[in-house]
Amino acid sequence: MPAEHDGIAEAADVLRAGGLVAFPTETVYGLGANALDARAAARIFEAKARPSFDPLITHLADAADLPALVGVLPPTVAALAERFWPGPLTLIVDRPAVIPPIVTSGLDSMAVRVPDEASARALIRAAGVPVAAPSANRFGQLSPTRAEHVVRGLGAAVDVVLDGGPTRCGIESTIVDARGPQPVVLRLGALAVEDLVAAVGPVTIRPGSSGQPVAPGTLAAHYAPRTPLRLVRGAVPASDDGVRRGYLAFRAAPAADHAAVEVLSPAGDVTEAAARLFDALHRLDAAGVTEILAEPAPDEGVGRAVNDRLGRAAATWSPPPA
Ligand code: TXA
Ligand code: MG
Repeated sequence: MPAEHDGIAEAADVLRAGGLVAFPTETVYGLGANALDARAAARIFEAKARPSFDPLITHLADAADLPALVGVLPPTVAALAERFWPGPLTLIVDRPAVIPPIVTSGLDSMAVRVPDEASARALIRAAGVPVAAPSANRFGQLSPTRAEHVVRGLGAAVDVVLDGGPTRCGIESTIVDARGPQPVVLRLGALAVEDLVAAVGPVTIRPGSSGQPVAPGTLAAHYAPRTPLRLVRGAVPASDDGVRRGYLAFRAAPAADHAAVEVLSPAGDVTEAAARLFDALHRLDAAGVTEILAEPAPDEGVGRAVNDRLGRAAATWSPPPA
């Protein structure tokens, strides 16, 4: 088992020495390594069983550290960083030579963000290096929103787990490529598209592709519980067929009597629902049910990202032929 630490200085030493440190951000827990160290980055791919074609996000302590790393920023990139960092927005920039290609899976571009979590920024600052960090889960599985999810999923593959309690947003950052004339959203996430549009005008939302993904986190089969998950709309199937089902409700528990029920937001708030999504799915996954039924959230604000993750979780399961 990895050591449970609240020592930022020790964790920073581990990063500098080429080790892996799982740390909380406002979105999900990240699995961090020194982004300047190709061997350390390689350990991330190994620990997650992550395919080498799926590039990592580099994390910085301060927005001011980005121009120092990559030079002059395209105007919209600079505007978005200024407006939303620290925060749940990942921006695409040109990869600087100092970042080894393994971090970006060979791409000439690099994903980068400044997390809005004091301990994460203190860790990165203390390490004195940019920190490459994907979500701290095994590839394709549910993202971790609590330290115990990291320990359960990655165990001894991680040198240190910093426990900052449950994460605030609960869902990954929004990824935007703003280098061109119109920003392109590559992954829906914790920063609402409406907020992006209010800041920089119209954006294009790239639909997820399971072919040649620009952001492989947008592969169809991703963010999935182990239990098959099915999206339900409207009438909920009766559960008197002997099958133990889990039910993920958006606002109100269903009338049908399911083995395990999670309600994401009794107040009907999409932000609260996002914050609870992965935690609820982790619990339903552990509830010993045969199938999870999930209601979509309203398709607005962060609700879009909730529905994106539910759609991907459902995509991993095909219904039996009729
Ligand atoms: O909220 C988050 O973004 C969390 C926390 C830890 O910061 N991190 C996270 O990382 O979700 P990960 O690895 O699970 O997802 C990163 C996504 C991947 O889908 C990856 O393909 C995409 O970012 N990505 C990384 N570099 C990219 C690039 N140069 N161009 C396009 N997409 C990129
Ligand atoms: Mg991930």
